[in-house]
Amino acid sequence: MYSDIFCKVYNEFGWNYYPEAFAEQLLQWLSVNGVKPKTAMDLACGTGVLCEILRENGIASAGMDFSSGMIDIARQRCPEIPYEVADMTVFCPERQYDLVTCTGDAINHIGALSDVETIFRNVYAYTAQGGYFIFDLLKESEVSDSEPFEMDFTESTRVWFQMVRPAEDQVELHIRVWENGTLQFEEVIRETIHDVAEVCRLLEKAGFSVLRCADRMLEDGGHGTTWFVIAQKN
Ligand SMILES: C[S@@+](CC[C@H](N)C(=O)[O-])C[C@H]1O[C@@H](n2cnc3c(N)ncnc32)[C@H](O)[C@@H]1O
Repeated sequence: MYSDIFCKVYNEFGWNYYPEAFAEQLLQWLSVNGVKPKTAMDLACGTGVLCEILRENGIASAGMDFSSGMIDIARQRCPEIPYEVADMTVFCPERQYDLVTCTGDAINHIGALSDVETIFRNVYAYTAQGGYFIFDLLKESEVSDSEPFEMDFTESTRVWFQMVRPAEDQVELHIRVWENGTLQFEEVIRETIHDVAEVCRLLEKAGFSVLRCADRMLEDGGHGTTWFVIAQKN
């Protein structure tokens, strides 16, 4: 679970770039394919950037995340959007959505494939007939040990990051934050690199048709550093 300080760093540090880049490709894909969802649910919505963009594009969006710090920021960003603090491994709303999304490698935050399978079964239940489930996944070749990176976040706040791969299928983001020279907190975000073919197999097992699994949503678009999976309930 992300701490409140990390949620603030996430929001102000520039990580909102990921949902913005995802939204750009998603809106193009919807337009090219003539898909016009009326409702959307963003799983692990973080700071609510994708929900806000979808809303600005005429889609009644809602979001959920299990970090209350993220949901607080999302609610401040757009109070009109309904947000919920919940765990997506058990989240299963009764109403259905035309579009379900999940970005920023949130699925990689789920370690066990059995939990990923449960999420897919639940998403299938709350996706409307003919609706879409579109998400991204870490691309193994893009994740490697990095040199530590340190910067002044504000005049009094110093932030330090390092990406580590402790095992073939594991990634850790180590973060430290100092206030006025005193270490305030240390956090390790752990992610699992899932085999993309296995993820697609689990989607099919849950009942979805996998329409696309590639490093960009459209042939001529995107930045190619992550997997995009587009599944349909039909
Ligand atoms: C890297 S952030 C991505 C946030 C947002 N989707 C974005 O693209 O900016 C991953 C998010 O997944 C959320 N998360 C991780 N595990 C979760 C779970 N089991 N249920 C709900 N949210 C979860 C975290 O709280 C965090 O907000």
